[in-house]
Amino acid sequence: MATGDYAADLNEIEALDKEYVFGTWAYQSEVAPTQIVESDGVTFTDADGTEYIDFSAQLMCSNLGHSADAVADAIAEQAQNGAYFAPGFATEARAKLGEKLADVTPGNLSKTFFSTSGTEAVEAALKIAKFYTGKDKIISRYRSYHGATAGSISVTGDPRRLAAEPGIPGMIKAPDPYAYGSTLDPMESLEYIDEMLMLEGDTVAAVLVEPIVGSNGILVPPPEYLPRLKEIAHDHGALLICDEVMTGFGRTGEWFGSDVYDVTPDIMTMAKGLSGAYAPLAATTVTDEIADHFEDNMLTHGHTYAGHPVACAAGLAAVETYQKENLIERSSEMSEYLEGRIDDLADSHPSVGDTRGIGLFHGIELTKRSDGREPFGTRADKLSKGSTIVDEVAATALENGTYVANMINTLIISPPLTITREDVDAAIDAIDVALEVSDSAMDA
Ligand SMILES: Cc1ncc(COP(=O)(O)O)c(C=O)c1O
Repeated sequence: MATGDYAADLNEIEALDKEYVFGTWAYQSEVAPTQIVESDGVTFTDADGTEYIDFSAQLMCSNLGHSADAVADAIAEQAQNGAYFAPGFATEARAKLGEKLADVTPGNLSKTFFSTSGTEAVEAALKIAKFYTGKDKIISRYRSYHGATAGSISVTGDPRRLAAEPGIPGMIKAPDPYAYGSTLDPMESLEYIDEMLMLEGDTVAAVLVEPIVGSNGILVPPPEYLPRLKEIAHDHGALLICDEVMTGFGRTGEWFGSDVYDVTPDIMTMAKGLSGAYAPLAATTVTDEIADHFEDNMLTHGHTYAGHPVACAAGLAAVETYQKENLIERSSEMSEYLEGRIDDLADSHPSVGDTRGIGLFHGIELTKRSDGREPFGTRADKLSKGSTIVDEVAATALENGTYVANMINTLIISPPLTITREDVDAAIDAIDVALEVSDSAMDA
């Protein structure tokens, strides 16, 4: 596995990749791609034959693991029978997947626009909210990620937005429900949003949130937060958009993060787990009322690959697999065990500052000081060259056979929903060893 000196030890494919393909969100000189040759169950294997437990489901998306044969078969069958038809034609996979999403999403969410990435799902949500309300502004939060293109990066709050600023106008940022790291109590941060909406006048189309913040640190709000947020948004004539790109499809132990709080948003975005990452597929689903609006108001939006038949076939087979294999329930059941093992890590490693999570979606936040919060990785580091101690912890876990994603100051644990207790134990053992790196880097 290539680490350290970025150009050293690359095999032929890795070197070709480094030369001809851009690495994402990276200084290209620092890109050191590792060639993966196969995957199976909750593991994947590099070109040297080393196997790793996938403790983050790649980018928090391979919710079905890597052996969902029904999805692979559905893709092959659709590709052979009709790989592509323009969005103006109906296909069985798209129609039935639309019906399925109306079924598994909460409340009266009923009609879907399909696209190919979480980014595009958010772009569609922003346009739909503006068309429906006739208003222009969006309130989102600082510790958030909603996508990489003009609109979705403008509503993103994390440091990745800075290079794209000023972004599109009217995108306003609010504080977050982050009990460990913010000066505001989570419920105070919510009342702040109420005040923001009042001060903006009747100009805000929607409030956009991840029901449980994902890449910005697995921030789980108190139970009353999301219902109250919907109330506040509606009181001010704004919609609630829940970005479920990461929290959807069993990640939280429920179908969606919104279900955890018993809230039906006006618009929901999905991607990642929607196809179990077997194909690029995303969805923007709206309530009956919003759907009705577009009966006689044009939906001025679309893509060549909107509702791509192969991707929709993957999505339909994926949702059927969640259902047939009871994976949502499994995520909820496995949660307690995973949480217990994470607590063990917190008990034995002084550099674990905070742990939080729900379902199979957990974060381990590190600290330099045992008497308080002093992050090893900051938002500024995210844009700097070089690696942080948090990166080194993740690299050490990898050397010990476990892949765990990390962002800013938090390790993100979000395994495939098919993970067993034995795999959890093996992965926790690797992180246990890796946390010695941060323990020994703590301030004296
Ligand atoms: C909550 C959320 N929204 C949107 C996106 C963007 O999705 P994509 O990378 O598929 O464009 C992500 C990606 O991580 C995400 O976590």
